[in-house]
Amino acid sequence: MNIPPKKIPANSSNSMLDLYTHYGRNHRFHIFCGVLGTLLGRFSGLLPAFFLGLAIDLIFFDQSLPPSYVFSSQLESFSSSSILILFSVIITLSFFLGAVSMWLGDRGWNAFAQEIQHELRTDAYDALQALSMNFFEDSRTGELLSIINNDVNQLEDFLSTSFSDALRLVVMVIGVGLILFLLNPELTIIAMFPVPIIAILAYLFVRNIHPKYVAMRSSVGGLSSRLEDNLSGIEVINTESTKPYEKGRVSDSSSEYYNTNWEAISTRIKFFPMVTIITGIGFVLTFTVGGLWVLSGPPLGFSRPLTPGTFVTFVIYVQQFVWPIAQFGQIVNTYQRAKASNSRIFGLLKQSPSIVDSPEAIDFSPLNVNLNFNQVSFRYPSLENYVLKDISFRLEKGETLGVVGPSGSGKTTLVKLLARLYDVNEGSICIEDKNIQEITLYSLRKSIAYVSQDSYLFSGTLRENIEYGQQNVTEQQIIEATKTARIHEFISTLPDGYDTIIGERGVTLSGGQRQRVALARALIKQSPIFVIDEATRYLDTETESDIRESLSTSSSNRITIIISHRLASVYKSTKIIMLDDGRIIANGSHEDLLKNSPLYASLWKNQSTSS
Ligand SMILES: Nc1ncnc2c1ncn2[C@@H]1O[C@H](COP(=O)(O)OP(=O)(O)OP(=O)(O)O)[C@@H](O)[C@H]1O
Ligand SMILES: [Mg+2]
Repeated sequence: MNIPPKKIPANSSNSMLDLYTHYGRNHRFHIFCGVLGTLLGRFSGLLPAFFLGLAIDLIFFDQSLPPSYVFSSQLESFSSSSILILFSVIITLSFFLGAVSMWLGDRGWNAFAQEIQHELRTDAYDALQALSMNFFEDSRTGELLSIINNDVNQLEDFLSTSFSDALRLVVMVIGVGLILFLLNPELTIIAMFPVPIIAILAYLFVRNIHPKYVAMRSSVGGLSSRLEDNLSGIEVINTESTKPYEKGRVSDSSSEYYNTNWEAISTRIKFFPMVTIITGIGFVLTFTVGGLWVLSGPPLGFSRPLTPGTFVTFVIYVQQFVWPIAQFGQIVNTYQRAKASNSRIFGLLKQSPSIVDSPEAIDFSPLNVNLNFNQVSFRYPSLENYVLKDISFRLEKGETLGVVGPSGSGKTTLVKLLARLYDVNEGSICIEDKNIQEITLYSLRKSIAYVSQDSYLFSGTLRENIEYGQQNVTEQQIIEATKTARIHEFISTLPDGYDTIIGERGVTLSGGQRQRVALARALIKQSPIFVIDEATRYLDTETESDIRESLSTSSSNRITIIISHRLASVYKSTKIIMLDDGRIIANGSHEDLLKNSPLYASLWKNQSTSS
């Protein structure tokens, strides 16, 4: 069966607004520092050119200031050299102010960006953890990783530089526009000519490039899924000699990324040269028209005079214009990319788990544990057929249940329902006569220790894996558990003992050793319900029966469920159920079943003769 992976739907509401309301506004202080730093920085950057123009007119061309200037009458009484020194001091101060504001602004925006990214990463991870199992069964790990890593990082540029760039652009266009307008409104018309053209160009650019970015982000997700899948399955790829096949698949995913990325790049690299040409034309026009104006009076039907100082100020300001305006495209571009990433992040953040604590759920720790399945039926959300039908049994403290049945008969599913990885469709499961749906998920899962069919070990040391998630575990407890799981002796032979690093997923251990470590981990939990799912299948019969013995000595204060294909693993259980195609086809003690179930009796006969 091949269930196509489900794509995480991008969040369709305005996620950029969500980004601000959920995260941005908690960092108003950083925004304030960023805005203040950017504004002061821009303001101080404008001063030198302004005073240079004034100095040229006042000192070198000996012109007087128009009476509209503040301090114009005071400056009249200064000598030329005093004015020069005064302006030098002002320009020096403006450089200092510029440096301090640059630091303040950068600090503000970068702190803003880093803190929001950190919160998004941890929140996205929390959201993932809260999701129910069926979400993971049809989502691709690589895609999820790509959201938490790439998409969140993608926001960095936007958060740390786009705001300041946008603000700088506004200050340049409005601030400089205003100064130039006051200096000479006629020449301003010529100097400002690129602005509307670039605005139109940027609009067209954005409309064109946005879908390309969306396609690119999605192909990155596809590529990381492929890589993640292949690296996890590297052993299969080696043993199955499918390297050329996998190489082809990776190459296909990479080509798709290459193509979508190239589409976006080729659009982007056309845009910036166009902007540069237009801003360049604006500069040349101002320079030529302004130069002629100074040389031989107002051209083109203009009437106002233009002093050499104002001309210099214009030329420098128009030059300063070029890059912020050219960055307009970059800002819109970064915004679009951030928007695509952000809507994927919020798509994940807004996924709601299907299994949650009910509002009345209680915390509970069973004292006199008993377990009751009442006519439980269940089907996986992605399947039409029921995999468990009308399952009922009851267990008391100290009892052991053996679950046998062919592969695919629903044995593991039984445990998944008990741990509420899924909810039953019909019937109910009760622990100590409380429906598990009325217990908090945390306390329910704390009361179940589960050694699964494919025990997962984390990279790290043996000790970390054994005491995994438990607080204050003593050395004594660890040794007790590993002795019961018959792995203590092996660990003692290792040079680093319990501090041996076992590699990713425990690759340095054999299958049976991994299982026994997982068994020790479950034993440490000391939960009132203990479930072993085929967890001894890699062990030889002697070690298995050894472990069974040691487990049974400590099983009197809990319920134990043993799932196995081998009847030898379960025949000592107080109760045994045989599953076939999701139904209980026989149940009772070993002796009952030998008498009443011909199937059980013949299996027992076959298995005891074959072993
Ligand atoms: N997550 C899932 N989504 C859809 N179907 C599933 C899922 N997990 C298991 N199934 C199906 O449910 C049925 C029962 O699976 P289950 O894992 O409970 O079998 P099992 O008895 O434990 O088998 P085995 O002895 O091989 O471990 C199988 O047909 C399987 O294909
Ligand atoms: Mg199973």
